[in-house]
Amino acid sequence: MKLWGGRFDKATDSLVDDFNSSIRFDFRMYREDIKGSMAHADMLGKCGVIPMEDAKLIQVTLQEILADIELGKVEFEIDAEDIHMNIEKILIDRIGDVGKRLHTGRSRNDQVTLDIRLYLMGEIDTVKGMLKELLATLTTLSEQHTDTIMPGYTHLQKAQPITLAHHFMAYFEMFYRDIDRLSDCKKRMNVLPLGSGALAGTTYPLDRQMVADALGFDAITQNSLDGVSDRDFVLELASCLSLVMMHLSRFCEELIVWSSHEFSFVEMDDAYSTGSSIMPQKKNPDVAELIRGKTGRVYGNLMALLTTMKSLPLAYNKDMQEDKEAIFDAVDTVKLCLPVFVKMIETMKPNAQKMYQGAQGGFTNATDVADYLVKQGLPFREAHEVVGKMVNYCIRQQKALDQLTMAEYKQFHEIFTDAIYQAISLEQCVNDRKLIGGPAKQTVLNAIDNAKARIALLTK
Ligand code: ARG
Repeated sequence: MKLWGGRFDKATDSLVDDFNSSIRFDFRMYREDIKGSMAHADMLGKCGVIPMEDAKLIQVTLQEILADIELGKVEFEIDAEDIHMNIEKILIDRIGDVGKRLHTGRSRNDQVTLDIRLYLMGEIDTVKGMLKELLATLTTLSEQHTDTIMPGYTHLQKAQPITLAHHFMAYFEMFYRDIDRLSDCKKRMNVLPLGSGALAGTTYPLDRQMVADALGFDAITQNSLDGVSDRDFVLELASCLSLVMMHLSRFCEELIVWSSHEFSFVEMDDAYSTGSSIMPQKKNPDVAELIRGKTGRVYGNLMALLTTMKSLPLAYNKDMQEDKEAIFDAVDTVKLCLPVFVKMIETMKPNAQKMYQGAQGGFTNATDVADYLVKQGLPFREAHEVVGKMVNYCIRQQKALDQLTMAEYKQFHEIFTDAIYQAISLEQCVNDRKLIGGPAKQTVLNAIDNAKARIALLTK
């Protein structure tokens, strides 16, 4: 018989049991469910709502159930619906009437959101830890490449020379913000919903603060309807995770392009690439592609969650059971991608020579020719036009700007002197850009030092 079977004359159809049941996917919250129930039972005992010795027996038995689950000795049942009722049922099977006192002053509606919060806060810490690893890897790789000059792009057209370190450190900033966003998301998640009951709180003199303290929550929900209806925190996490994937997908896309024969800026390690079943010469960046692809599924989960929650009347509705598969899948996917991504970039081999050659083409130093003229006193717009004409000329002559003779330079403006050659060398172009945030070697080295200090300050 069901734990709620009292008002029913008939058993549920087995099709409905299967359909309704969430144990297939919510069993993963068993630790949180037990932890929450133990804190609830303890509080019930201390507040005199149930006898103290019953509270003790419930807690000891829940601890035993937890140990048995971890040893694989417990079988969950579809018709006990979800993790909450499965554990309660096992408790009652073991200690009978005493176990029946546990659910006093509590509903599955406040219980489920408690469990999700506890579970996801743990997952946030795990994802943050993985992102922290990635940040450390990016600083290590950057230290090795402050002299590795490469073309920076806009519109995927060569734009201005930068270094590989500067490029890597751009991603450092993105993933750093991702960590910050996750911490912020956790702050709003870290609120105890227990005590909201089914929707209207409860008549028992519960001590919500005691439960919050026992479970380590920073605050208590301030409205019982909101306490059971809110899934903002799930959506916020799905959105943070979507941004992590978006950043990974951009990085992966670049690595895929860079691994192409046409670019050859980077070679993936054999251990992080795959071959073709038909074309013997192939070495494909499958890992990067799969991460790029999995981004779609995390966005899909975000959309699914937004759509599920759209227009739901207060308070709890069974629709909300759909929150778990989507958010679990989003978390699992990010946790799958991050470690393999870190390994992939740690083992890949950048080709500094190809990158340098890449920076030599495409007039990446054209801005610096204009800047040279500006420093000789020309207004920037005029300098821009002069250099535009020079580029046009170079394209027809099939020359780079630094290959023009002084006589050619003088045709465009008499102010040019031999100093131009030094001023537009790729090294100079990079190292003159020393403003905070720029690609100059010393600036990037400072940025890396600063980045390491920021990593050290990251809290859990
Ligand atoms: N398995 C349910 C869920 O995940 C638990 C809450 C059920 N509450 C209810 N009133 N049916 O949402």
